[in-house]
Amino acid sequence: MTLSHPILLPLYGILRVYQMSTVKIAPSLLAADFGNLQRDVEMVNKSEAYWHHLDIMDGVFVPNISYGMPLIKTIAKYATKPLDTHLMIIDPDRYIQTFADLGVHMLTVHYEACNHLHRTLQAIKAAGMKAGVALNPHTNVDLLANVINDIDMVCVMSVNPGFGGQSFIPNTIQKVRDLKQLIRTKNAATLIEVDGGVSSENAKILVEAGADILVAGSFVFKSANPTDTIASLAHITEA
Ligand code: DX5
Ligand code: ZN
Repeated sequence: MTLSHPILLPLYGILRVYQMSTVKIAPSLLAADFGNLQRDVEMVNKSEAYWHHLDIMDGVFVPNISYGMPLIKTIAKYATKPLDTHLMIIDPDRYIQTFADLGVHMLTVHYEACNHLHRTLQAIKAAGMKAGVALNPHTNVDLLANVINDIDMVCVMSVNPGFGGQSFIPNTIQKVRDLKQLIRTKNAATLIEVDGGVSSENAKILVEAGADILVAGSFVFKSANPTDTIASLAHITEA
């Protein structure tokens, strides 16, 4: 039987579809045009994006203030995809119920901002949300070993949090590999998100390292066609 035998050809087609995997893309609305917020949220709704990434900064944990409840309410009003909310604030427990009431799906707190991370994760889940933990670039993934089975998603920061448009820190790639290994060793179902400086330059290697979700702010919203840019990132492993 030759390789082009009529019985084999359809099988190759099936295998090819099986091999093709879309990457989950999380456009960061920090880079949106706030004067046209409804338009940009609706662009994400109609795109191949997985969810909306919201960056909340308090000016204490990070040296910048982004936006708060009135804007989040506006985003929630127009968003038709889940809200992935990244809290860059100290003592995030104070606002868990508020974010649950706003309809947030994934609430991510920083490892470095929580004195009692296990308690915070339980409180997020008790409020009906998925629990995420973000790690600053200097924070070792092994510090999550005792709590990884309680975490729905780890957000590996590939820039120092606080601003969009920064350069990707290359060491993140090895960090994602190490985290994937930890997740496998512990038999956990934790997803890996990478956040900061993501572009077509590093997206593929991050997915190969183990990333499930890629946050992209500037690369999406500063591009000529954000919808196409989201699609190209989502299909980066097929290139
Ligand atoms: C940085 C934020 C990121 C940021 C990403 O503190 O957590 O989500 O918006 O923006 P880019 O993709 O421009 O680095
Ligand atoms: Zn973020």
